[in-house]
Amino acid sequence: MAGRGGRPGQHGRYGIDGGFAGLAVFGVAEAALAGTAAWAGCHRRPAVAALAGAGGTAVAGSAASYLYSTGPGKRAVWAQLLDELDLRGDEHVLDVGCGRGAVLMLAARRLTAGRAVGADIWRRRDQSGNSRAAAERNAVAEGVRDRVELVDADARDLPLAPASFDVVVSSLAISNIRDSGGRARALREAVRVLRPGGRLRIVDDGAGRYAAVLREAGCTSVTVRQLGWRTWYGVPGHHLPLVAAARPPG
Ligand SMILES: C[S@@+](CC[C@H](N)C(=O)[O-])C[C@H]1O[C@@H](n2cnc3c(N)ncnc32)[C@H](O)[C@@H]1O
Repeated sequence: MAGRGGRPGQHGRYGIDGGFAGLAVFGVAEAALAGTAAWAGCHRRPAVAALAGAGGTAVAGSAASYLYSTGPGKRAVWAQLLDELDLRGDEHVLDVGCGRGAVLMLAARRLTAGRAVGADIWRRRDQSGNSRAAAERNAVAEGVRDRVELVDADARDLPLAPASFDVVVSSLAISNIRDSGGRARALREAVRVLRPGGRLRIVDDGAGRYAAVLREAGCTSVTVRQLGWRTWYGVPGHHLPLVAAARPPG
């Protein structure tokens, strides 16, 4: 396995998935429950106050889980998935919908002679502070700028040569394409740019449904597995799925 390149102990800033709108939902719920608890306290309704207090605790826990999954949880899960790939260090890795680069930089840290390419349309409603410049700053902060390339590209129409990547990864990006036809196009694009023998790893809400499209696109070894509590995103028991696949050797 390749060593961990990059600057030890240095990490970029990767924002919040779903933008601040996702967090605002928790804030509004928390405020409503706090208001209810205060009202119940003033009007001597101990049962209502207790219920509102319990609800407030649950919402706070849910918000904490969401923040964990969008940050350290995601990085821990992907560190493990990338370790399982046992990279040599000279691979070309593509991250489809890389955003600010949380997964891209983890991949780049595992490369020595290879390249980590991030493709995105950098939409802010999908991740707070999302921009190509933010991804660039993170590459510098992580000490991997020399290995990282960023491309303005829609996942449905990648401006990348066929069979040019050893590994294609994607985290929580393809489900942001609203229509199933568009998601299928993005999946076929991911397979098109994969070298024979190359490997694909996608973590996404809809990843379970991607398996059939990947098989139709010629992938083998297509498997789906649920990831653990780190991917709850505020909803206990809601595990994100991983779909893994490979392009058969030529
Ligand atoms: C929730 S963010 C996840 C970012 C990153 N993969 C991560 O896990 O930190 C979703 C990303 O998908 C990107 N995205 C959405 N639709 C896309 C499309 N059609 N083509 C490329 N990227 C897209 C967004 O711009 C955003 O960066």
